[in-house]
Amino acid sequence: MTDATLPSPVASPELQARLATRRSAPAQALGDPGPSAAELETILTLGARTPDHGKLFPWRFVVLGRDSRAGIAAQLEPLADRQPDPRKARAVLAKLTAPPVTVLVVSTPDEGHKVPVWEQELSAGAVCMNLEHAANAFGHAASWITDWYSYDADAVALFGVGAGERIAGFIHMGAAAEPLLERPRPDLAGKVERRP
Ligand SMILES: Cc1cc2nc3c(=O)[nH]c(=O)nc-3n(C[C@H](O)[C@H](O)[C@H](O)COP(=O)(O)O)c2cc1C
Repeated sequence: MTDATLPSPVASPELQARLATRRSAPAQALGDPGPSAAELETILTLGARTPDHGKLFPWRFVVLGRDSRAGIAAQLEPLADRQPDPRKARAVLAKLTAPPVTVLVVSTPDEGHKVPVWEQELSAGAVCMNLEHAANAFGHAASWITDWYSYDADAVALFGVGAGERIAGFIHMGAAAEPLLERPRPDLAGKVERRP
């Protein structure tokens, strides 16, 4: 529906607390249960509710089930051998295969459009973050991963990502098998400039 009146933001200490403590999980430590099919439908809907200049919706989702990921990972193994560190390149495939639910976010910019490609790609990144928030809102941990197979042309093709498209990220969702540990956060003093 367009032109519908939406509620204005209301102060939510609960949401503030969630944002203050949100944290990605290690993808390889994500296990069952993941989002149900119904939850995932809503998570995708919430993820797609993201700003984009020009209403181009310059991204698409591929929901990759475990079987698909296992099959692709088997095909990625020989490609891992030509990476600078083949052992590590093989090891990180566990991040792709372990989680119960994975959404591949593909950036699909329209290069001929007056909205710069950079802005279209930023929108795809924002979608990735919103998917994480949405998964968290359903009580699932999440992880945004790219890894080498997002950049190797042969690997990318295995995921059905075509010419002119790029992988924005794999958003993995599930239950974290280990506690989420805080990591260093930026010192805002060095990041924020205030002008009168
Ligand atoms: C665009 C992007 C790509 C990422 N790719 C990887 C990756 O390939 N491997 C990895 O272990 N983590 C990857 N991460 C995740 C981060 O390393 C890390 O989990 C995340 O920044 C933690 O942030 P948080 O503590 O605020 O949740 C990626 C994150 C982003 C935003």
